Parts: sequence; C-alpha cells; structure tokens
Amino acid sequence: MNNKKTFYITTPIYYPSGNLHIGHLLTTTLAWVYKNFKKQQGYDVFFSTGIDEHGQKIQKKAEEVKLTPQEYVNNEANKFLELWKLLDIDFDYFSRTTNKNHEQTVKLIFNKMLEKGYIYKGKYEGLYSINDEEFLTKTQALLIEGKYYHPVSKHLLQEVEEESYFFKMDLFNEWLKSYFLNNPIFITNKAITKELLNNFIDKGLDDLSITRISFDWGIKIDKYDDQKSHIIYVWLDALFSYLTNLNYLEKNNHNYLKYWVEGNEIVHVLGKEISRFHAIYWPIFLKSLDLKLPTKEIVHSWIVTPEGKMSKSKGNVIEPIPLINKYGAEEVKYFFSSQVNIDNDFSFSESLLINVLNADLANNFGNLLNRVAKMVNQSFPNGTKYDEKSLLEIDKNIYELANETYQEYKNNLNNFHADKALKKAIEFSSKLNEYIDKNEPWKLKDNLDRLNIILNTLLNGIYLVTYLLSIVLPKKCAIIFSYLNQLNNEKLLFQNNKFDNVIINVKEILFPRIK
Ligand code: MSP
Repeated sequence: MNNKKTFYITTPIYYPSGNLHIGHLLTTTLAWVYKNFKKQQGYDVFFSTGIDEHGQKIQKKAEEVKLTPQEYVNNEANKFLELWKLLDIDFDYFSRTTNKNHEQTVKLIFNKMLEKGYIYKGKYEGLYSINDEEFLTKTQALLIEGKYYHPVSKHLLQEVEEESYFFKMDLFNEWLKSYFLNNPIFITNKAITKELLNNFIDKGLDDLSITRISFDWGIKIDKYDDQKSHIIYVWLDALFSYLTNLNYLEKNNHNYLKYWVEGNEIVHVLGKEISRFHAIYWPIFLKSLDLKLPTKEIVHSWIVTPEGKMSKSKGNVIEPIPLINKYGAEEVKYFFSSQVNIDNDFSFSESLLINVLNADLANNFGNLLNRVAKMVNQSFPNGTKYDEKSLLEIDKNIYELANETYQEYKNNLNNFHADKALKKAIEFSSKLNEYIDKNEPWKLKDNLDRLNIILNTLLNGIYLVTYLLSIVLPKKCAIIFSYLNQLNNEKLLFQNNKFDNVIINVKEILFPRIK
C-alpha cells in the first residue's frame, strides 16, 4: 500500500501570446523547486503547468498573424514546451484548454452551475480589459482624459455592452469572508489577503459576467438553443484546468481522487496580479459545486525593472532563452529561487545574477568542494573516518549547525520561502569555509588524526549542502554525489560515518567563475 502524503502543485496556465519572459520563468521555477522539495521529503507529487488558449486576446493575436486561433495556439504551445525543456523543468501534465476533454468538462460545469440556480442571463454594461481578460467597474478604473485604464496593468479598457450570463457571486460573499477570516494563511501573503478583503469582499462582490458574445474563440455553451452564441469567460474556463488536469468528471479520474479529493496539499503558485481570480472567484466556483478548496495560494510579487512591472506593453521584457543559454538552466533557476522573496517585488539585473552565481556557487560552495577534495586526496587517498570520541568543540559545533540548518531549511520551504531555505544552505557552506580557515589544515600534515577529523567533518557538511541544493541543482548535485561516492538519501544526512574509507574523486570544476 502506498501511504505517502500527496502534493498537487500548479503554475498558472500562461497566455500563449508570444510574451515569454522571466516572469513566467520565475513562477514555473518556484513551483518546480517546491515540487522537488516535497518529493525529497517523501511526498507523492503531481506538478502541472500549461497554457490558457481561449479568449479575445488570443483571437486578436491569431488574426494579426493571419492564422486560425487553433493554428496559432499550437505553435505557441511548442514555444512553451521548448522553454521548459531548455530550462530542464519536468512536469507531470501540460495543460491546454483546447483539449477536448477539458472543453467538455467546462461545459458540464457551466450546466451544473446553471441547474443549481447560480447563473442568470442579463446584460453586461461596463469596462473590460482584453489584455488582462478582466471586467472592471468605472469606480475601479483609472480615468485619464476621458479614457479608462486598468488600475494595475494600466491597459486601456473598452466599454462593453452585451448580453451575458452572470454568476451570483453575492450568494457566496459572506461564506468567503468567513473562510478568509478562519483561514488567515490560505494566501501566503498577508497584505494581499487584506487587500482582497478591503477592496472586494468587504465591499460586496458584484455578480460576475461569465459569458461573452462579441467573439467566438472559446468554449461554446451549446446545450440550450438560445445560448448558441455564448462563449464561456476565459477565466472560468482556465481556472477549471486545475481540475481537468486530473481528469475531473472523466471516467478515469484516479488522479482527481488521489490528488484532489483525498489529497493532502493542493497549492497554486501565481503572481499577485491574478490573486483576485485565484483567491475569490476560484474558491467560490468550487464551493458552488460543493468541491474541496485548494489548501494554499502561493502568491509571489513581481520582477520589476526601473520602468515598473515587466510586461510586453512597457517594452522592458527580459527574455528567458538567451539568459539560459548564457548561464545555464540550473544556474538561472538557482538565481531566481535563492534571491526572490515571494512577498516583495524583485529588481532584476544581469550583474546581480553574475554576482550571485560567483559568490554562492563558484567562490563559496564550489571552492569548498574543490579544496576539501584536494586535501582529502593528498592526505587520505583511501578515505577518512568518523571518530566521535575525538571530536573537539569546534567540530561538534559544525554537526550541531548542520542539524539546525536542515531544520531551518525545512521550516522555510514548508512556508514556501525557497530563498531563505537556500540562503541557509549557503550560509552553512560559508561556515564550512570558515571552519577550514580556523583549523588551518595545511599546517596539520604531521597530525593526521586531527586532519582526519577535520576533513571528515567537512565531507559530512558538504554532503548536507549538496542534499539541500539538489532540489534546485539536481543535475549538478547528482554529479557531486557521484564524486563523493554517495547516494542522495535523507537517511544518510546524519549518518556521520558515511564517508568512512570512501574515496573522493572530483573530476571537474562544476561552478566556474563567470568573468
Ligand atoms: N492565463 C492567466 C492565468 C490563468 S491561471 C488559471 C494569466 N496568464 S499570464 O500569461 O498573464 O501569466 C501570468 C503569470 O505570469 C503571473 O501570475 C506570474 O506568475 C507571471 N508573471 C507575469 N509577469 C510577471 C512579472 N513581471 N514578474 C513575475 N511574474 C510575472 O494571467
């Protein structure tokens, strides 16, 4: 019997409108690192990413390049798949909303909501942002010289007047409010929770327009004749991909039962600008169908440049592919996951990336590994030996610090602060370098007993750092484990005799300095 705990993690499904940038790379990297951490901790994990293929924005893009929307999204899907391959991101499912099973399921969901009396027909009169695929009221929008703009993305808004079906959000307003108050850690970021409460929930949610008729690229409601021309709102369509990824409402719904219904942790990773959809509408849609809610919304802030949030319309987009080609997939993933605090905006620069890679990987950990391997090979070609009774205070401190470091790494990652967790690993690596400098092992050629203890302590320390970094640098760390003649296994972490008589063979500098 398999009684592992489960962990289902998703990235947003990105709009395939040709705007691949390091913001997408950041979200996917974070989700992938969390997934690797949970896997390392013994969870049965399921990780999905994908693309959001319907809607007016995509239809417009396809028209611009004279392709049918389907041809257009097929091409774009490949661009995303290539990017994740280049970045060495492995996932369990790639979501595409033009997938027939997804479309069928969303139609069924719409009909269920209709049958339950949560949907009514009306007329939408208000503002719409095609770029954000978001409805706004005039009070929410910015009015500049007679034109309305999105208050956050600053995109120009259209005035829309069309027949639409609406979802009765107000029926769930009080329920959502108490859900927020009873689950203060549902969203990782407290400020966002407060903002959603103040700006939307406390004010009373407006009913949400959930169909459009002015274009036709989307899931059509075809069950009833008079609804022929209605297209399901792209956000209702997209959010349910989190369930259709697991074959919800399909015959073979094994994954849905395992990772959602009976699952332990269900988490969505997303940028803060789409928290309204994930933390208000999504829980309400699920509640309306009597379905279980995700356990956590991991909301991260933005990558910004001096021009503000990175986005195509501002022209300050940093492309991910040249960055990966120049610095390496694992290095780029290391940079973002170790530097971005999800609660704060992050100011990107290439010089910062170079500094971090040089400081943490080349000068600190890489150098530690090389110097220790060299000393071991010189004095103990047949390996060192753990000898508990000969440990001095200074050595015991390292073992204690190793223990603390592992606890803090886990605590931080359990709170989805990969940056803090990885910083702990690097801090410990610094301490190991300091431990070398304090002990001056190069002066101990005549005291092999003492030298043995020092090098053996260092090897145990290096094992821990490698283990911790392996959730971000799996390939590089697999090579290091092979150089150390060790397996990557939690059980070995505090088994201090694991290097007894083990030959160390570092064949190559894995983290060269970037000039
Ligand atoms: N299609 C919707 C999501 C539907 S999920 C059911 C969407 N797509 S998107 O292509 O616009 O991607 C948005 C996501 O990209 C953000 O939530 C965030 O994860 C990432 N980022 C986009 N710009 C970003 C920054 N400047 N900085 C960090 N992440 C950013 O919204």
